[in-house]
Amino acid sequence: MNPFRVSSGRRAGQRFDAQHGVVTEALIFLGELDPHAIGDALEDATHYEPTPVAQFESMLDALPMPVNGFTFVDIGAGMGRVVLLASTRPFRQAIGVEVSPALCETARDNLVRWRRAKPDIPCKDLRIVHGDAGAYAFPPGDLVVYLYNPFGEATLERVAERLAQRDAGTCYILYHTPVHRRIFDEHARFHAIADLGFGLIYALPSMPRSR
Ligand SMILES: C[S@@+](CC[C@H](N)C(=O)[O-])C[C@H]1O[C@@H](n2cnc3c(N)ncnc32)[C@H](O)[C@@H]1O
Repeated sequence: MNPFRVSSGRRAGQRFDAQHGVVTEALIFLGELDPHAIGDALEDATHYEPTPVAQFESMLDALPMPVNGFTFVDIGAGMGRVVLLASTRPFRQAIGVEVSPALCETARDNLVRWRRAKPDIPCKDLRIVHGDAGAYAFPPGDLVVYLYNPFGEATLERVAERLAQRDAGTCYILYHTPVHRRIFDEHARFHAIADLGFGLIYALPSMPRSR
């Protein structure tokens, strides 16, 4: 049962939930959910709203390479909808990072239901990590990092810098509703490679190893 009463009303999202027995379609302001459990990150956080299914699929389709061997990371994962969707592609692993404990709980519950209903999904290693994305240490290797306008400039600067400092592995950033695109546009290491109107894709090439 959906414990959250406010719904964004997006029919396709509601259909997705009904078809798959999960709870992802909602519009939730963190200050009304579990503000005390979130701490300082609350100040820079946006609300929870899931990515429309078709738009997320379009962003993945616009990637210039096969995703085999890449790890998918959703920064600000909410109830985990895009982690579920990413699992239908051959990523090595799909991770959602979320600051709200209540949303993490729902996302983990969704993962259990999804796995039970879909034992044959191509990506079986799915995780929800609780924490502030600004302090998140990205896993090694090739990454696809997804952002659906999760927070303001201060936190995004920290995330972008952590990515830019990685010394191995290629990284693609999918930035939906890119309110703070300036951070990537003005950074020497990120290159915009596609513009879908509702979102941008940036490439962060692997840093050449010093000999
Ligand atoms: C617009 S929702 C996107 C949800 C999900 N990525 C999707 O596309 O369906 C943004 C999410 O970012 C989370 N968030 C905000 N600030 C955060 C932070 N500092 N660390 C981790 N998650 C954060 C919010 O709690 C919210 O769930």
